Amino acid sequence: MEDLSNRVAVVTGAGSGIGAGIARACAERGMHVVLADIEGDAAESVAAELVASGATAHAVRTDVSRAEEVEALAEESFDRFGRVDLLCNNAGVAQGGTLHELRPEDWQWTLGVNLYGVIHGCRAFVPRWLERGDRAHVVNTASVGGFLSGPVLGMYSTSKFAVVAYTEALAQELAERGIGASVLCPGWTNTNLGKASRNRPSDLGTAPDGLEIITPGMAEGMDPVEVGRHVLRGVRENALYIFTHPEFAPLIAERFEKVLAALERGKEPPA
Ligand SMILES: NC(=O)c1ccc[n+]([C@@H]2O[C@H](COP(=O)([O-])OP(=O)(O)OC[C@H]3O[C@@H](n4cnc5c(N)ncnc54)[C@H](O)[C@@H]3O)[C@@H](O)[C@H]2O)c1
Repeated sequence: MEDLSNRVAVVTGAGSGIGAGIARACAERGMHVVLADIEGDAAESVAAELVASGATAHAVRTDVSRAEEVEALAEESFDRFGRVDLLCNNAGVAQGGTLHELRPEDWQWTLGVNLYGVIHGCRAFVPRWLERGDRAHVVNTASVGGFLSGPVLGMYSTSKFAVVAYTEALAQELAERGIGASVLCPGWTNTNLGKASRNRPSDLGTAPDGLEIITPGMAEGMDPVEVGRHVLRGVRENALYIFTHPEFAPLIAERFEKVLAALERGKEPPA
């Protein structure tokens, strides 16, 4: 999708951080933007800023972990603009904690937003595009944590590895049908992710956290609008992977080298 102007983007998690950055980058390029967020007021306020700058923007309160709310978001977006060209499944949360201690309700929340948010988004928008014969593009937000894992953030990385795998398969399924798919894998970005528990449903109880380990990296992180500009370059180039932080290359290379070495070892009889 080379010419973005006057096209319609739907961005989830657009009330803050990277989602707001993607929405601002879309407006810079002359796109019309639907901003979805569980924090309806935050989405409204970013939408108002975009409208004041001359863009067309519309906010919709949406909990992406609920299929019916994402379906309603798709319906409202198509009704209002008559088309959607770009879907950014970006809403996400993070929770720290050791894997053997995290409870089913912790997994339910993290996977509910980070993975099911992507699944619900694609289930709501892709069939509409296919039915209408539209060309379109999906960007799913993972993280460098979709290629790297470590202690304390294991649950987060599990959700992001899944988003990488989902998007790799999605891109292959839809390539011949005029729909592109990219996975966004940012590193440290200056957002409110360290305060993600603000949106944890209260009926799930208190979150055991440990998330403070990400706060210093994020405070010095990239400006989210810069991440948004990388996203739009990836959309224009139909790139499967959108990386924004090349300084993670040695760590990711080290992981793949370990995998390749293990594959080599598999050539030797195990006796
Ligand atoms: N900040 C980083 O360093 C970083 C790095 C890699 C990936 N990411 C990913 O970027 C995405 C955006 O996070 P961010 O860093 O901008 O954090 P953020 O907290 O600033 O923004 C996340 C937004 O998602 C919204 N949200 C949370 N739960 C939701 C739900 N159930 N339904 C709809 N909206 C919901 C929040 O209200 C918030 O507006 C996430 O997927 C995150 O995992 C962030």
